[in-house]
Amino acid sequence: MSLVRVHNFSISLDGFGAGEPQSLETPFGHAGQRLHGWMMATRFWDPTTGGAGVDDVFAERHSIGIGAEIMGANKFGPPGWQDDADWRGWWGPNPPFHTPTYVLTHRPRPSLEMEGGTTFHFLDASPAEALAVATEAAGDLDVRLGGGATTIREFLTAGLVDHLHLVQVPIVLGRGTRLWDGLEALEDTYDVEAVSSPSGVVHLTLTRRAATSA
Ligand SMILES: NC(=O)c1ccc[n+]([C@@H]2O[C@H](COP(=O)([O-])OP(=O)(O)OC[C@H]3O[C@@H](n4cnc5c(N)ncnc54)[C@H](OP(=O)(O)O)[C@@H]3O)[C@@H](O)[C@H]2O)c1
Repeated sequence: MSLVRVHNFSISLDGFGAGEPQSLETPFGHAGQRLHGWMMATRFWDPTTGGAGVDDVFAERHSIGIGAEIMGANKFGPPGWQDDADWRGWWGPNPPFHTPTYVLTHRPRPSLEMEGGTTFHFLDASPAEALAVATEAAGDLDVRLGGGATTIREFLTAGLVDHLHLVQVPIVLGRGTRLWDGLEALEDTYDVEAVSSPSGVVHLTLTRRAATSA
């Protein structure tokens, strides 16, 4: 059965997945690149100079066995991208998804076929509806939920996430978009593990327990 997986989602100690304000110049707001410094130092990110330690082992799982991605509108572009008919995402002509990629937005537009196997589709749909479409496209493979925090929270609330890999970075942002708001007692339904890396980040995995009959 196809799983819904989150990988490499970086949060501050206080649970923010991005700072503020988000803009074309500052996609992560006042967080800058600090949430992702750990990943940029991996071989996954830079095969020439990146390290091959614990962070790399976690990071590279991002790309394995994925047949489609779902992301939120604010990951796809800065505020107001919906008013720019030429906006094609942050990632250039060959985005790093290489699968059908579903962008949740209240202002959908026609699909965009990019190089390298990525096609962006724009959906105004509930999490369950979007997941049904992405699962169909993914075939036997899994669906990656790419963020941001608002979209992951929405899918967690709907009970649709099977595996959540978070990377807790030792910074306090104080403001931005927070993952945990409104969620409660995930530990009742997920096995939670933490692995400290020498880089200073902590990899957290939340793996949904198989349902048990009463
Ligand atoms: N920390 C990380 O590892 C990481 C990873 C990915 C992204 N990011 C960053 O996170 C930030 C974005 O996160 P975010 O929490 O602000 O926003 P987000 O989750 O990317 O997008 C939320 C927006 O998506 C649209 N949306 C969500 N669910 C929808 C639904 N069911 N139907 C229709 N539209 C829906 C809505 O936009 P509209 O109403 O405008 O259509 C909503 O405001 C960016 O700065 C990005 O760079 C961080």
